Amino acid sequence: MMFNFTSPEMTPPQAPTGPLEVRPGCWMVGRRNPNSLLQCNTYIRSFGSEHSPLNVCLDPGSRVDFPVIEYNICQLMGDLDGISSFTLNHQDPDVVGNALLLCAANPNVSALMTEEVWRLVQHLDFRPRRLHLANAARSDWLTVADQHRWQLVPTPFCHFRGAMAFYDPEVRTLFSGDLFGGLNRPCRVHLWAEEADWDGIAQFHQIYMPTREALRYAVRQIRALQPAVEVIAPQHGHVIAGDLVPLFLERMENLLVGLDLLAVELDQTYLEGYRQLIHHVFSWSEKTLGREEVLRRLKTPEIHDGLERLVTIRGEDIQVEREGYTALARVYARLARGETVEFLNALRTQIMGGCTVLNLPIPPIGAGLEEGRHSEAIGPDGINMTPH
Ligand SMILES: [Fe+2]
Ligand SMILES: [Fe+2]
Repeated sequence: MMFNFTSPEMTPPQAPTGPLEVRPGCWMVGRRNPNSLLQCNTYIRSFGSEHSPLNVCLDPGSRVDFPVIEYNICQLMGDLDGISSFTLNHQDPDVVGNALLLCAANPNVSALMTEEVWRLVQHLDFRPRRLHLANAARSDWLTVADQHRWQLVPTPFCHFRGAMAFYDPEVRTLFSGDLFGGLNRPCRVHLWAEEADWDGIAQFHQIYMPTREALRYAVRQIRALQPAVEVIAPQHGHVIAGDLVPLFLERMENLLVGLDLLAVELDQTYLEGYRQLIHHVFSWSEKTLGREEVLRRLKTPEIHDGLERLVTIRGEDIQVEREGYTALARVYARLARGETVEFLNALRTQIMGGCTVLNLPIPPIGAGLEEGRHSEAIGPDGINMTPH
């Protein structure tokens, strides 16, 4: 079987900067970083009049990105103290990092999150003036500003037990947190999702979401929203709109993630697909490395990863015997060892594209690690961290 995947764009269009409009009165103010494979999105939703504005910040974001987020917010409202309230989908550092700075900028700021989130984030020692606990069992709706109400959309275990998405029916936009977030291909940091961005979404969910059942529950909640959702604004990657909303909901419903993948390792139904893809990866790598070098890397006894239990090599004959998901991850790690970032990105594109075509779960192949650090991440000595 032959695949033909083009290498990722390495000369990107200029990364978008400044507040990016998602809907009237709604902007994405996070940092677009072409050197990262994980973009973090922070949103601002503005209500009220010029004289009495009310600005809600959804998921204030990572400390690392704060200078850009602050700059973008100031473009919109002059000063950080213009944020009247903020929401937290869950308690991860890429979501919560700047909450402390918003509290410091405006002592009257209020915060909105579930009880499960607050129980944990309070240990960061920030105190909003008012805390609103989102509890869908008590009420599905919450008033965010005069005559503006949002619907609470609990998304338990996506990926935190107490994760809460918010639906703004006025702009038909769902702020979904990590759900529908995605890794981006190198340099592809555009705001609006394209169909090709699905692989990165799939991979992000396979890593961070615990089970398909949790995704299915969330998808049912989203489909039931009225009026129907037009825009999904996740905390990572691209904003999803138009025909991609129903398409990605359908794909999400069928995506195997987390625990589901433990069973996949043993599932013979995927083995043939992984065999085809592993053979494609061999032929593709041979063009750059040469056959002899590919075989040497796969046969070397110096790496104790158990690959020989999954893949047997006799002469030039390569046989994938079992556990294709794990075998592919190990083959990737061996071929990638010590290689350039360009080679790794191109190899990942082959694997992610092949998994999509063959409908296979994408194994852990390192997408999402910072560009400059990736080649050093592979190997027994850990990651050589560089300062920002
Ligand atoms: Fe998270
Ligand atoms: Fe996140």
